[in-house]
Amino acid sequence: MSGRRMDSRFHGNDGTKRPTTITCVHAREVLDSRGVPTVEVDVTLASGARGRAIVPSGASTGRHEALEFRDGNPARYQGKGVRHAVRHVNEVLGPAVMGVDAVSQHVVDALLLETDGTPNLRRLGGNAVLGISLATAHAAAAGLGLPLYRYLGGSQGREMPVPMVNILSGGLHARGIVDFQDFLLIPLSARSFSEALVMVRNVYHAMGEILTERGASTLVADEGGLAPAVDESDAVTGANEAAVQLLVQAIEKAGYRPGEDAAIGLDVAATHFYHEGEYRLSAENRTLSSAEMVDLLVRWVEAYPIISIEDGLAEDDWSGWQQLTARVGGRVQLIGDDLFVTNTQRLQQGIERNAANAVLVKVNQVGTLTAAVATLRLARAHGYLPVVSARSGETEDATIADLAVGTNAGQIKIGSITRSERLAKYNQVLRIEEELGAQGIYRGREVFRRFLDAR
Ligand code: PGA
Ligand code: ZN
Repeated sequence: MSGRRMDSRFHGNDGTKRPTTITCVHAREVLDSRGVPTVEVDVTLASGARGRAIVPSGASTGRHEALEFRDGNPARYQGKGVRHAVRHVNEVLGPAVMGVDAVSQHVVDALLLETDGTPNLRRLGGNAVLGISLATAHAAAAGLGLPLYRYLGGSQGREMPVPMVNILSGGLHARGIVDFQDFLLIPLSARSFSEALVMVRNVYHAMGEILTERGASTLVADEGGLAPAVDESDAVTGANEAAVQLLVQAIEKAGYRPGEDAAIGLDVAATHFYHEGEYRLSAENRTLSSAEMVDLLVRWVEAYPIISIEDGLAEDDWSGWQQLTARVGGRVQLIGDDLFVTNTQRLQQGIERNAANAVLVKVNQVGTLTAAVATLRLARAHGYLPVVSARSGETEDATIADLAVGTNAGQIKIGSITRSERLAKYNQVLRIEEELGAQGIYRGREVFRRFLDAR
């Protein structure tokens, strides 16, 4: 310990404490948007500056994600308490980074990974590790008197992301009425982030009216999207396609041209209905092979203004991914979420196999900010588009808004525009957009240029 404290990575050359040295790390158990416990961490620096972060949590998680440490005591929060993870922060991981300069994010993150010592952070928990990692960045930014996006990206980080917004929800987030998880709006013609949100709200509102006219429910799901029972008799081929058709109608009803002003994105989240080599569409009482699933998605791309498909195939169905990419990868953004789990090794495999052309970046899938940014950089270096994303279990923590702007990611996926845990992020981007003013950029449809030109 004393050897490390003398190391010049941690202190000024004269051995004195820098104002940005970490002096206190404290975690507590708080609740997320599903009322499920999660880890909140406060990191305090020598100067007194403090950073706070709250860890999000997925429902449709990938097998290759970092492990989320849960207490497993059924008598408390159905086993989902995080008191052990909190203890790991307060007693093991926190002490390991005490005395380190918070500005050296990569040093902090390397120490956290080394202290856990397992590839998927199963010993101390990805939730424990991530809480410290993100709170450290917040503390460093506060210590330097910089907004987080500026701390992360310098003067180069100034691009407002295009939002990809959940209008209709299904899958594990809405309890099984539609198999596919997200039917998303991608505003194309907006000239700013704030203008994009106007479009989103207009389409969301139009969808509410359409559902009300049909006598369908306008209750919302985990990410705030509308979650009606889609009537199978309306559809050419079943409930999932009916949801796509409803979204086209809502775009038109709001006065926009589908495919021109606004396009459709899907998060199929196919891993969660893939069993024993088959895709089971329970809402439609049918089962598809991998090749049939690819055929279905290709047909939809031809029939509807879909410009983005996430997890169209399951997390380990590499050959399905390769087929889909070969057939429509030039025309549609194909995002790996469960496929890549924000992991550079998984993404590297995808690059080598020509699977997908975009990657979802969810910090808690990989456990540290450094690792998430590395994935984003690797994606960029190989022409894969990064999409910074929230989880279905979220909180008021808005770190990903700053992350998206600071890294010029270009796209963000937060869920819908209702529920305050979603709005915390949208509103933070609005604040940043205002703060950057003329220095900020918004590329809008340019982000999708290569796909749009090919259609
Ligand atoms: P999750 O959903 O947070 O439940 O994994 C989000 C997504 O699949 O993109
Ligand atoms: Zn997903």
